[in-house]
Amino acid sequence: MSNRLVVGNWKMNGGLAFNARLLDELIRGWKEDASRELAVCVPFPYLAQAQAALTGSPIAWGAQNVNAATSGAYTGEVATAMLMDFACRYVIVGHSERRQIYRESDEDIAAKAQACLDAGLTPIVCVGETLEEREAGSTESVVLRQLDAVLARVGERAADMVVAYEPVWAIGTGKTARPEQAQEVHARLRARLREAGAGSIAILYGGSVKADNAATLFSEQDIDGGLIGSASLKAGEFLAIAAA
Ligand code: PGA
Repeated sequence: MSNRLVVGNWKMNGGLAFNARLLDELIRGWKEDASRELAVCVPFPYLAQAQAALTGSPIAWGAQNVNAATSGAYTGEVATAMLMDFACRYVIVGHSERRQIYRESDEDIAAKAQACLDAGLTPIVCVGETLEEREAGSTESVVLRQLDAVLARVGERAADMVVAYEPVWAIGTGKTARPEQAQEVHARLRARLREAGAGSIAILYGGSVKADNAATLFSEQDIDGGLIGSASLKAGEFLAIAAA
């Protein structure tokens, strides 16, 4: 059985006072448990705050994006070594908002995943189809194309990644994939990862996961946890999801 992991993706939300309260509630509400892990991926300016608050707690932290280059003339960008300076464990790469709004390609995302692995960070590689792609019957080919681009680049180091399946039509829409729909895709991803020697990594589900649907999703065989957007901004809801 893979490690169980629930990750909060705060996206471009939060503020010093709001975060302080949220992190404090998470620390007080989360009981350490070797079989499952909790993490939050926060906006860059709050990494120092997350590090200060969460050091010594069982909750991990990380970022939502990174640049693949090590340093240099990339105005506005952040390098892996900078994330390591704040003791990040995780970096979300290839979130559909990055793919769609910022036009990141499969190759960009593969390069970011590789940069994370080179630096000792765990990339959470996101894959997922749009509604049009699902309706055209191409869900499987889309998510495997996205995953294969990363596998081709990182090789056997895929065993040190996390993968998140996030159907784009389920993100922030209140529409969740039915557990068996999600499981079908997770099983395909697992099979491909197994061929790459990474069959036991965590495969998270994301897209409108809430306290009231987490347990049924997480009970599917190949769903090892969740990548949680809006519900991760409410401590009680996020903790309830993590406990599911
Ligand atoms: P959501 O976002 O939980 O708000 O749907 C999930 C995500 O985009 O990671």
